Amino acid sequence: MKKYVGFIGWRGMVGSVLMQRMIEENNFHDMHPVFFSTSHVGSEVQIVPNTRTNILQDAYDFDHLKSMDIIVTCQGADYTNCVYYKLRNIGWSGYWIDAASLLRMHQDSIIVLDPLNIDMIHLSIQKGIKTFIGSNCTVSLMLMALGGLFAKKLISWITFSTYQSASGAGSKHIFELIQQMGCLYNSVANNFNNSSFSVLDMEKKLSEVTKSTIFPVKNFLFPLAGNILPWIDSEMENGQTKEEWKVQAETNKILCSSSVIPMDGTCVRVGTFRCHSQSFIIKLKQDLSYSNIVDIIKKHNMWVKIVPNDMHSTLNLLTPNAVTGTLNVLVGRIRKLNVGLKTISVFTVGDQLLWGAAEPLRRMLMILINL
Ligand code: HSE
Repeated sequence: MKKYVGFIGWRGMVGSVLMQRMIEENNFHDMHPVFFSTSHVGSEVQIVPNTRTNILQDAYDFDHLKSMDIIVTCQGADYTNCVYYKLRNIGWSGYWIDAASLLRMHQDSIIVLDPLNIDMIHLSIQKGIKTFIGSNCTVSLMLMALGGLFAKKLISWITFSTYQSASGAGSKHIFELIQQMGCLYNSVANNFNNSSFSVLDMEKKLSEVTKSTIFPVKNFLFPLAGNILPWIDSEMENGQTKEEWKVQAETNKILCSSSVIPMDGTCVRVGTFRCHSQSFIIKLKQDLSYSNIVDIIKKHNMWVKIVPNDMHSTLNLLTPNAVTGTLNVLVGRIRKLNVGLKTISVFTVGDQLLWGAAEPLRRMLMILINL
């Protein structure tokens, strides 16, 4: 019998990408989807082309939610906090699949990234675990990129620097980045052909504009266009940001590590629109040859694409522009470093809305649908 699956937060950025992927893979055919809404209850929508329209259901109607076999939410942590515990308390024992971070580190939840932890997912289903959460976007993308090294237990420790796109902060942030770019352009456009306006004058003008009250910073709070922001999420007591803290915590939970693999670094917001990039310094446990390292990374999963370490390939392929909207996880700039044996660097780029968010949830849903 087909299962009833409730979707909440399907209109947001991660939710829209999830819907798009499910349509592409014809996944709706295998379930009875019910679309809930926190704001447009009763409206008629057509999610899947050429199928009947759907009336949006109330996302706070607990009786209705309780009748679902599976609930998939991309609505965010506030919704999860408001609904999840109450649903469980009134006896709902269905499967909860969530993009929000709230339940990730709970004892009774599994962080899902099936190319890495499919065995744990199957085992936990057998054990009766009912709560499956997607990991932080940089964590999923790192694990997809370096999965081979993790699977062979070759990693002693990792440090990282991330280059996270505006869309990671939310859809309003993309618009704001474009507005900021437009504002910068408009402030100097009349002077492009003015020979008495030097490039230093232009840079000074741009800098003044970013500091002026006309510059749109409502969402980012600071200029991102022409700038970088080396702080993502809230402050932890140890000086890390929450985004940085998640990397070691979530990775080791996903891998069910018997001893914690140390990971730390700096998370940075950059003025790209979509896709997160990351630079890693990795201390290996063995002194492997370069070709062995590349081979291990390449063979882990079908989405990893190795980019040769040359200028043309790197600038053509190892960029957010090259990877956006695809499931490919590009891995390049692989080098054995001069600073000491067993130390390598790797640069990776992936679409944080796909492998970094929607795709692991979609795949988890289909694992449950096919039980
Ligand atoms: N925490 C991530 C970010 C969201 O701020 O970029 C995942 O895209």
